[in-house]
Amino acid sequence: MKIIYLNGNIRRENSRTNDLANYFLSLLKEKGSIEEINIMDDCPLPKNTSFFAENYQIEAKYYHYAKKVKDADLIVLSCPFYDMGLPSLVHAFLENISLDGLTFISTKDSFLPNIKAKKLIYITTRGDRIDDNETKDGASFYLKALGKLWGYQEVINLSYSGTDVNDVIKTNQNKNIAYQKAEMIAKKLLKEQKDGI
Ligand SMILES: Cc1cc2nc3c(=O)[nH]c(=O)nc-3n(C[C@H](O)[C@H](O)[C@H](O)COP(=O)(O)O)c2cc1C
Repeated sequence: MKIIYLNGNIRRENSRTNDLANYFLSLLKEKGSIEEINIMDDCPLPKNTSFFAENYQIEAKYYHYAKKVKDADLIVLSCPFYDMGLPSLVHAFLENISLDGLTFISTKDSFLPNIKAKKLIYITTRGDRIDDNETKDGASFYLKALGKLWGYQEVINLSYSGTDVNDVIKTNQNKNIAYQKAEMIAKKLLKEQKDGI
């Protein structure tokens, strides 16, 4: 299993999301190759007016990253929850690797999905008590929509919330549940790989 890991954990080693993602990936390590793209190291700029200029050139590294995402069997995206959604850094990265001819193909009538992965694992932690896929979770909503363009059919959430509210017991319970869920998701993915699904 070829896994592409998009690491958007802005606080790096201090990040709780980073810890959860590392735990999850450690469970898959033996059975797959994991390639990491560190989004912070390649801070992309969002598209601006210049993008529409006649001779605008997309930086080669984004073709390169888009190709890796296109060819992966599984996409893992990990980043903190900011302002009810993805950090803009992560959003800008996705925007820069969403490329016609790679992650999707435009035709006269529509856009055709063009990536191999059927699933995207979205790993996050949230400061407030916000559940996956509730109205306040703008990130999952966006990632599901992006799947319609690129072609992955499922967004699997791995998260816990309440990291910044004053109830350590409850937050630790949520955290334990998330770590158990990481094991369940990894087990299921490995079984699917074994069964050739
Ligand atoms: C700039 C910024 C924006 C944030 N926005 C939200 C938010 O909209 N909702 C929320 O529940 N938590 C929000 N948080 C809290 C983070 O989601 C929370 O601290 C998270 O656990 C950070 O993950 P990390 O430890 O991996 O950095 C925000 C934190 C920062 C720094």
